[in-house]
Amino acid sequence: MQIQLAFGKSSVEPTLILLPAFSKQKTAKSKDKVLVNSFWPKDLQSSFKNVVGSQDYKGEKGDTFSFIAEDGVRVLVLGLGEKTKVNAETLRREIAKIYRAVSMKTQSMLICLDSMNVLKGVDKTAGVLAEALQLAAYNFDRYKSVKKEAKLTKVIFAAKDGKAKVKVQKELDRVQNITESINVARDFVNDPPNVLNSEVYSKQIQDDVKKNLKGVKVKVLGKAALKKEKMGLFLSVNAASAFEPQLVHLTYTPKRATKKTKHIALVGKGLTFDTGGLSLKPSTAMVNMKFDMAGSATVYGAFRAAVLNNANCKITCILGITDNAVSGLATQPDAIVTARNGKTVEILNTDAEGRLVLADCLDYACDLKPDQLINAATLTGAILVGLGSEVCGLFSNSSKLAKGLLDSAKKTDEYMWQMPMIDEYRNDMKSPIADLKNIGGSRFAGSAKAGCFLEEFVQEGVDWAHLDIAGIGDSQSHLPYCPAKGASGSIIRTLTDHLTSTK
Ligand code: BES
Ligand code: MN
Ligand code: ZN
Repeated sequence: MQIQLAFGKSSVEPTLILLPAFSKQKTAKSKDKVLVNSFWPKDLQSSFKNVVGSQDYKGEKGDTFSFIAEDGVRVLVLGLGEKTKVNAETLRREIAKIYRAVSMKTQSMLICLDSMNVLKGVDKTAGVLAEALQLAAYNFDRYKSVKKEAKLTKVIFAAKDGKAKVKVQKELDRVQNITESINVARDFVNDPPNVLNSEVYSKQIQDDVKKNLKGVKVKVLGKAALKKEKMGLFLSVNAASAFEPQLVHLTYTPKRATKKTKHIALVGKGLTFDTGGLSLKPSTAMVNMKFDMAGSATVYGAFRAAVLNNANCKITCILGITDNAVSGLATQPDAIVTARNGKTVEILNTDAEGRLVLADCLDYACDLKPDQLINAATLTGAILVGLGSEVCGLFSNSSKLAKGLLDSAKKTDEYMWQMPMIDEYRNDMKSPIADLKNIGGSRFAGSAKAGCFLEEFVQEGVDWAHLDIAGIGDSQSHLPYCPAKGASGSIIRTLTDHLTSTK
């Protein structure tokens, strides 16, 4: 789908024109406001009023009204509810629903930006609309022998004032870099585990970097290199795998970097499949564990978007990639393994593997002395119990970093909530015979205890945050701009905002 600008006096002939309507509101003067706003093209205002039934249309949120204008073009009126209550997320959700309703039927759609302009500036409105359209247009069909191609290939953003064009185009370019990166991440997550094993995944990321991220440095550590690094925990998860573990290490340095330039390190859990290991998952719980690499796809997506949008901070991206398999070589529950940082861990449940991979990656990242360290992982089923499949769990040792992330989440309309980390939880992760154990003594507060385990591998003085995305990583059926089933790409917008607003 291509987004085209028609600013000033350009003539376009779309097959559909989309116009907004806001529900009538009583004003202080107790006069009803008109439903059609004065930004509608004059001829369409009168056409609409002449259509039978238009008087009964209220413009409530999500209600649509369709008619054929005098010149034969179809007009779709989208109700957005009370104008003062409309925000960016209303626009995203409603425009995504429109996309779903018309994309198989209509070839080109014109959106009248002036009438839709409810945010601070026509560029912001255009950006939000483009974002939702490009995210809604995503479709994972590479394994379908017959593909249902969308008919809608062109969306035209029209506005009277030609002066805003440069500003709007700039915003559309910025948004395009983010949505494209989200869709790249979604593709990685949706790809099945028999195709996307650790080696293939690592190779595909390297290819994408080479093709699209000029100037980004790539380093990849395989099994031998991980042994040299003494990453015992990471290797213990890979023990039964038919494939090499891969630690992908990417570095972006901004053009005008100085000694004062901030450095943010991202770490992602990249389990291409999680069987649970010898603590085998029951068959129904194992289905969909291809998505256990969503944390790595999420941080890579954010890294990619931030690089394309010329972020002003240095960014390191570390992806810990392997599967958690079973064989005679698999790590046994009861095994005691030494981590890269020297701590010993009693592995009581091989299904609590994400934290093992992350632990060594976090310690590795800390050696690079970042100002901030942020990891994302589909870490615990327990986060679904706590926050449902809608809210991302945040755990942090720094109130400043936590606030920064919560602010970015709010700004991009993604749900995130900070969870507690207390000494009682920390104590529950201590082992009587080793330094730590990889599961707590009860299933209560399972997500926070996993966070406390990770904290043990964050070096002194590093501001760190852990995002548990096990709930939000896929199937965000309440968000019309996400596929009802499959990878969501959620929280990439939050992370990208955080990276690009760090100076
Ligand atoms: N990848 C899972 C977490 C998960 C579970 C994500 C369900 C999405 C849906 C993780 O590796 C895991 O298995 N965690 C265990 C931890 C437990 C053994 C302490 C879990 O949540 O059950
Ligand atoms: Mn597991
Ligand atoms: Zn897992």
